[in-house]
Amino acid sequence: MQRSFEILVTGASGLLGHTLAPFLRQAGHEVTTAGHSHATGVDRLFDTTDEKAVRTVLDEVWPQIVINLVGLTNVDNCEEDPQEAWRLNVKSVETLAGWVREVDDCRLIHISTDQVYGGVGPHVEDDIDIVNVYALSKYAGELAALQADATVLRTNFFGPSHLEGRPSFSDWAVATLRSGEAFTGFDDVLFSPLTMTTLSKAVERVVHAPKAGVFNLGSRGGCTKAEFIASVARAFDLDASAMRHGSQADIGLKARRPGDMRMDSALFEEAYDFKLPVTEEEISGLTHA
Ligand SMILES: NC(=O)c1ccc[n+]([C@@H]2O[C@H](COP(=O)([O-])OP(=O)(O)OC[C@H]3O[C@@H](n4cnc5c(N)ncnc54)[C@H](OP(=O)(O)O)[C@@H]3O)[C@@H](O)[C@H]2O)c1
Repeated sequence: MQRSFEILVTGASGLLGHTLAPFLRQAGHEVTTAGHSHATGVDRLFDTTDEKAVRTVLDEVWPQIVINLVGLTNVDNCEEDPQEAWRLNVKSVETLAGWVREVDDCRLIHISTDQVYGGVGPHVEDDIDIVNVYALSKYAGELAALQADATVLRTNFFGPSHLEGRPSFSDWAVATLRSGEAFTGFDDVLFSPLTMTTLSKAVERVVHAPKAGVFNLGSRGGCTKAEFIASVARAFDLDASAMRHGSQADIGLKARRPGDMRMDSALFEEAYDFKLPVTEEEISGLTHA
């Protein structure tokens, strides 16, 4: 029989939390979910930038594992409001890590991003190249988490969203393809995302034996955003002829974006004995999700 753990998921009211928390419950763990402004479906509400409120909940729940999904995740919003990015992506991690460091029976799993990479991928964990405030704040958040010997997982994900009004990239792709309206698919942005289901399986593996350090957690191979959309079209039998191939520079985004965020996740695969899927397989499995 698999061991079960008492887990607190912070940021559970977000996109990933709506897949990860139910997955962990299904796997037999005792999960307490925490959100901030979205009250529906979570056990606790608190502001992770309010240290007293965070400590009160942690003292009450006293989890064996904290999985932190809190963040200001909109890249352009981070560029416009660096202070808010710092509050949510760094200060709140410092608070969680501070509590975890003080107790000796809790581990922190912190979710980070592939946006910390630049240059030509696939990147190994040391290839840091920061081009925007989001990436800077997420990187600083990783350093804060590592103070508590956290497991930091750099990732990117897609798949059916279970949160109304918060579509994932693949949801957006399906809706845009179905609309038949012309749009641009980027040929100069590469990434190696996982479905939220595969990511949840990988996180569950970490729960059983967290190792301190930073790990890439993505699919094998990777693709451009345009290739991703073309694969989604094939998976859902949709017509992709309305997609114009172009560059992310064409649409005038506020924050600079890295071009190649593909990750080499061999370190994770070896540390956790977990074979990650090929990107194309992840996308083609979407209709079965
Ligand atoms: N989305 C992606 O494609 C992507 C890619 C790579 C990495 N990541 C990382 O994965 C993690 C999860 O991303 P996501 O897309 O699921 O995030 P999300 O949907 O934007 O959700 C963010 C979560 O943070 C919570 N939050 C915001 N401010 C808070 C505060 N002051 N106090 C407490 N909680 C607060 C939100 O709660 P309320 O909604 O209740 O206010 C929500 O639960 C993040 O660390 C992100 O950086 C995301």
